[in-house]
Amino acid sequence: MIALARGGEPVPPAPIPATPTMRQSREDRERLHDKIVGGQDEGVRRQHKLRKRTARERLELLLDEGSFTEVELYRRHRSSGPGLADNRPHTDGVITGSGTIDGRRVFVYAQDFTIFGGSLGEAHAAKIHKVMDLAVTTGSPLIGLNDSGGARIQEGVLALHGYGGIFRRQVAASGVIPQISVVLGPCAGGAAYSPALADFTFMVRDTAKMYLTGPDVVEAVSGHRVSHDELGGAEVHGSHSGLATSVQDDEESCLAEVRYLVSLLPANYLDLPPRTAGVDARDDRRHRLADIVPAEANKPYDMREVLAEIVDDGDFFELHEGWAGNVICALARIDGNVVGVVGNQPLVLAGVLDGPASQKAARFVRFCDAFGIPLVTLVDVPGFLPGVEQERTGIIRQGAQLLHAYCEATVPRIQVIVRKAYGGAYIVMDSRSIGSDLSLAWPTNEIAVMGAEGAVNVLYRKDLAATADPVRLRGSLVAQYTEEFMHAQYAAERGLVDDVIDPVDTRSALARGLAMLRGKRTEPPRRKHGNQPI
Ligand code: HXC
Repeated sequence: MIALARGGEPVPPAPIPATPTMRQSREDRERLHDKIVGGQDEGVRRQHKLRKRTARERLELLLDEGSFTEVELYRRHRSSGPGLADNRPHTDGVITGSGTIDGRRVFVYAQDFTIFGGSLGEAHAAKIHKVMDLAVTTGSPLIGLNDSGGARIQEGVLALHGYGGIFRRQVAASGVIPQISVVLGPCAGGAAYSPALADFTFMVRDTAKMYLTGPDVVEAVSGHRVSHDELGGAEVHGSHSGLATSVQDDEESCLAEVRYLVSLLPANYLDLPPRTAGVDARDDRRHRLADIVPAEANKPYDMREVLAEIVDDGDFFELHEGWAGNVICALARIDGNVVGVVGNQPLVLAGVLDGPASQKAARFVRFCDAFGIPLVTLVDVPGFLPGVEQERTGIIRQGAQLLHAYCEATVPRIQVIVRKAYGGAYIVMDSRSIGSDLSLAWPTNEIAVMGAEGAVNVLYRKDLAATADPVRLRGSLVAQYTEEFMHAQYAAERGLVDDVIDPVDTRSALARGLAMLRGKRTEPPRRKHGNQPI
């Protein structure tokens, strides 16, 4: 309060002297800070020996230099569990705060394996909850660096309660902010549900492991001894379970890849992904496109080569490179704007859709839709994979997931039919009937319910049986059917394809189409939520 002198003039307050106590406390604070930040020597050596970085070293690699602001550095547990009462390290084994990536704010937590094996107790969980809440309220991506023995055994149900709080927040934040989970060490037990709930999960070869029950439990239950890697290494989740979105050889390349991914994402669902300037694609003719795709329907080629020709600088972030390779999902830019590309991959299983490919593409379509990223679908699909195994493992349900995802997507959607588009798979790959805004086709004659041979066999069975020269008749019927019903022009004349384009114009046609659709808005139907066939 400002005192008034006699006569009403204000008297300036006397400066508060810097007392020795205050100076002392600042020095103490700095000493304590250095000690905490320096880490526990033996644990640090052990991390390095295992080819692992410490939590702080990881944050240095992930974030822009000097951008990290830490919160709750001094927090520690208050448990009296076995071995804990006299051991209360600051941070409680997780470093939390905020920093920037290319100048854009993100919130982070990094588990510190040198403290209680990065295990999660009450205080550790509360710190993570805090940055999750801040990420949502400030509309910023959340990145979790996991390296942990799981629930802190000594803290019992409090640890489980802490995990539940993380999962609940992740689900509430789903579709609000991008969530990225990076597994850099063990991620055991229920902890593995956190990467499973994230939008993107990264793993590092040899050091990352993720499983619900470790090798000891597996041996006790089944009698089989398995290694940590066989059970939940990066190969398992990158190529079999499909849990890992990206697998990298070491922590440096992994965290660099996370930075690249963040550069392609909006900060939240109301934001736009950052646009890069100056790559005008609208008149960019790509002559190589005419040579990549063979005219013969059964000849394979790499759809990634097509993708590289149509996106800016040939750069893209591919999701699940090692899993369900018959479909490609990637984030990239066209004319500076981020797009999500789904493409059949004729190199793998001839590009058919099976269960895993449908699930992979469905989750990606939903992500893009949630965050306002336009979809480009490159179609070259012979159909859904037939077979007893596929039917038993639920290809109908899994295909329905992809169908549901596309039908619900309200972002700008462009379909490009590159070569084959048959049957149910034609419908599912963002056809006009399920809501694509623009459909472009190369001059292909492979759009139909089924191949011409099969169609003629069904339609003309009696004529073929009756004729003296079935080979000749079949040949002419196939040619006639192909010409009349399977050409892109047939679909274009009926409004199912907007334009039949020269392949070399694909990039420019997409750039123009995306510009035409920018700002698209539709109102979802009024309901609580749909019931997607998960
Ligand atoms: C408390 C733990 C711990 C845990 C590790 N530590 N995990 N402390 N609770 N869950 C401690 C160890 O005692 C050790 O302490 C230090 O961390 C390093 O661990 P090591 O075993 O020496 O390391 P390593 O040989 O590399 O093995 C790592 C590991 C192993 C594979 C993660 O520690 C392990 O199997 N831990 C238990 C994993 C587990 O079962 N967690 C519970 C899952 S159930 P010292 O003092 O010796 O250095 C779960 C339920 C969650 O998480 C449910 C949520 C819904």
